[in-house]
Amino acid sequence: MRLHLLLLLLLLLLCFSAPHVRAQSSQARSLDAILQEYAFKALVKPKTGTIYNATTTQLPSNLTGVKIAALRLRSGSMRRRGFPSYNEFEIPKGVIAKPYVKRLVLVYQNLGNWSNSYYPLLPNYTYLAPVLGILAYNASNLSATNLPTLDVNASGDPIKVKFHHVKLPPLGAVAKCVCFDLQGSSNFTNVTGGNTCSSSSQGHFSIVVESSALPPPPPAVAPNENKTSSNKAGVIVGSVLAGLVFLVLLSFLVLWLLKYKQNKKIQQMERAADAGEALHMASVGDIKAPAATVTRTQPTLEHEYAP
Ligand SMILES: *[C@@H]1O[C@H](CO)[C@@H](O)[C@H](O)[C@H]1NC(C)=O
Ligand SMILES: *[C@@H]1O[C@H](CO)[C@@H](O)[C@H](O)[C@H]1NC(C)=O
Ligand SMILES: *[C@@H]1O[C@H](CO)[C@@H](O)[C@H](O)[C@H]1NC(C)=O
Ligand SMILES: *[C@@H]1O[C@H](CO)[C@@H](O)[C@H](O)[C@H]1NC(C)=O
Ligand SMILES: *[C@@H]1O[C@H](CO)[C@@H](O)[C@H](O)[C@H]1NC(C)=O
Ligand SMILES: *[C@@H]1O[C@H](CO)[C@@H](O)[C@H](O)[C@H]1NC(C)=O
Ligand SMILES: *[C@@H]1O[C@H](CO)[C@@H](O)[C@H](O)[C@H]1NC(C)=O
Ligand SMILES: *[C@@H]1O[C@H](CO)[C@@H](O)[C@H](O)[C@H]1NC(C)=O
Ligand SMILES: *[C@@H]1O[C@H](CO)[C@@H](O)[C@H](O)[C@H]1NC(C)=O
Repeated sequence: MRLHLLLLLLLLLLCFSAPHVRAQSSQARSLDAILQEYAFKALVKPKTGTIYNATTTQLPSNLTGVKIAALRLRSGSMRRRGFPSYNEFEIPKGVIAKPYVKRLVLVYQNLGNWSNSYYPLLPNYTYLAPVLGILAYNASNLSATNLPTLDVNASGDPIKVKFHHVKLPPLGAVAKCVCFDLQGSSNFTNVTGGNTCSSSSQGHFSIVVESSALPPPPPAVAPNENKTSSNKAGVIVGSVLAGLVFLVLLSFLVLWLLKYKQNKKIQQMERAADAGEALHMASVGDIKAPAATVTRTQPTLEHEYAP
């Protein structure tokens, strides 16, 4: 009974530790804000429709390894013509930003070796490519900071991300696209053509693989991490407890069996003893009477007295 309950608890714990991607931290959102500011700074007297890669000297030293770019477009032009090649991104026709702005800036992010710090994966998952992001902002004030993102919707073809240099997944493992939206949720989709992910909206993208064969990524600070590790601890404690209860129950069973066997032996001996006495019933006339094996006086019928 108690064992059943524990097994149920164990199953529940296992179910709760199942999600593939940890919840994103608010750190990712504040990084977006920082990168928006720096990307906008790269737009000095910008030409519409020209990609401005921020140079490494334009980024703070604590973000070495991150690459950003900015591209200013007219909303109408983006909707009618798209933008076939914005670094790894392909913006198709029919992409709409809301609320309407005359011009917008698409900020490109390549998080490089910071990917796992801002978008941590579960231990069994590994990035095969850096996290790339694309976010849309109002372009009316290029010195504005803490701008809200616009809502982007690809009404026709999806926005495509063609990753350069995707690491090969280990033999037998299947690579998956992972899409992080700005609300903190994420999902997996199929990789097409070996290096391409598709999405109907803006956000952050990468290619991952599930594998226990690869070394786990370095520990990352995530608000959800404590929960996952406490779940793991829960599973371990649960298993140990279940094991202990099982052992105790097993030893009880063994003890009971031993006792049962002993009882049976005693009963048999008693029965044998009983039977032994019953065997010495002697027939006297048509009356049965118990008789001892050795008797000094044989039982006699009373009417057979000597005259
Ligand atoms: C901008 O950076 C991307 C990679 O992040 C690179 O592919 C592209 O060639 C660069 N463009 C320019 C104009 O430097
Ligand atoms: C980088 O350092 C600056 C201060 O020099 C700080 O304001 C900023 O938050 C830091 N950024 C990150 C991503 O750590
Ligand atoms: C990424 O690499 C740069 C050097 O290329 C280093 O300064 C930085 O600390 C690294 N970031 C992480 C999170 O490892
Ligand atoms: C875009 O920015 C300009 C200048 O800051 C502002 O007047 C306008 O209302 C903004 N548009 C939207 C849709 O936020
Ligand atoms: C643009 O944004 C900056 C920083 O928020 C602000 O100081 C400035 O007044 C804004 N300009 C316009 C035209 O809204
Ligand atoms: C995006 O556009 C499509 C087609 O116009 C529409 O069905 C869908 O609801 C839109 N999605 C969002 C999030 O606005
Ligand atoms: C998850 O995938 C669906 C279908 O491809 C897509 O509509 C949705 O926006 C995706 N969600 C996220 C968080 O990327
Ligand atoms: C993704 O790939 C799997 C296996 O290759 C396939 O069964 C599934 O239908 C694909 N999903 C989509 C949405 O294409
Ligand atoms: C990782 O993989 C191992 C072996 O496949 C599995 O036992 C373990 O439960 C997995 N861990 C997570 C967190 O999925």
